[in-house]
Amino acid sequence: MSPSAVNEILQGLSAPEKYISSKYFYDDKGSAIFQQIMEMPEYYLTNAEQEILAQQAAEIITETGFDGPFNVVELGAGDGSKTFELLSYLDSANREVTYVPVDISKAAIDGLAADFTKRLPRLKLNPKVGDYFEVLKDRLQSESNPSLLLFLGSNIGNYMPADALNLLRLFHQNMAAGDALLLGADLQKNPEVIRKAYDDPHGITRNFNLNLLDRFNRELNANFERDQFEFYCYYNPLSGEVRSYLVSLTDQIVDLADEQIRFKKDELIWTELSKKYSFQELEGMAQTAGFEVKKHFLDTRSYFTNSLWIKSD
Ligand code: AVJ
Repeated sequence: MSPSAVNEILQGLSAPEKYISSKYFYDDKGSAIFQQIMEMPEYYLTNAEQEILAQQAAEIITETGFDGPFNVVELGAGDGSKTFELLSYLDSANREVTYVPVDISKAAIDGLAADFTKRLPRLKLNPKVGDYFEVLKDRLQSESNPSLLLFLGSNIGNYMPADALNLLRLFHQNMAAGDALLLGADLQKNPEVIRKAYDDPHGITRNFNLNLLDRFNRELNANFERDQFEFYCYYNPLSGEVRSYLVSLTDQIVDLADEQIRFKKDELIWTELSKKYSFQELEGMAQTAGFEVKKHFLDTRSYFTNSLWIKSD
């Protein structure tokens, strides 16, 4: 891990209320566990979004108003499985599209590129490996064709409200007038449905969280003992927030990158925010960031939205 990542982790673990950024979940092991999460029936988000993209692709594209060639730029593309539906529709409609998948994992991007080259041979591919803030910077404005920016999977839900707005403003800044953003966001719903998606009976999400400690042991010379911590999460239907934690089961001292971290029994490490939205919140965010909301595309159960926003000026 980079020195700045190590600093960020040490800073979080020395704060009065300890935290670890959820971006550290995704080492190779963690990404594999996240795949398992997406396969659980309780984790409805993935299926809901796939259903929307498979069944409403034509209408989504119509609503962008793009009538000639355009770019599809996906931030955090992963293995591209959700986007395949959309791209395969565009292929069947003979639309001229350049797909720009962006991901921090080279392995994921290489896999996606190989897969899509085989399955959609007519698609123009321009994959980018890197931090999507860097890759995004100014490239959309210099494009001659309009762009549809994809930020799917409710990844926006991992950001605190102020950070989410800053991110959306950054998208807006880097888009050209007339460009579109398709934002995947998980909706507020029966709280038990949401709770079960995170506090899952298989222990997969628990394993996803405890893998952070294994990762730090492997990569940061730490000596966390997995059985001295437990996973805890809850959903608050009033705020729409799922918050996930690791709980220290004893008073203990853990070494990490030449520092010592003290834990009290029952002390928490906050690991993740997974925010669920109301339409009112989404529309407020769009407006504050300078977008016009074109349409919310929902799955049949109304669990999830892919909301199409346009940068109008
Ligand atoms: C990939 C950030 C959308 O918050 O639902 C799944 C990650 N965490 N189970 C989410 C996750 C626990 C996921 N996102």
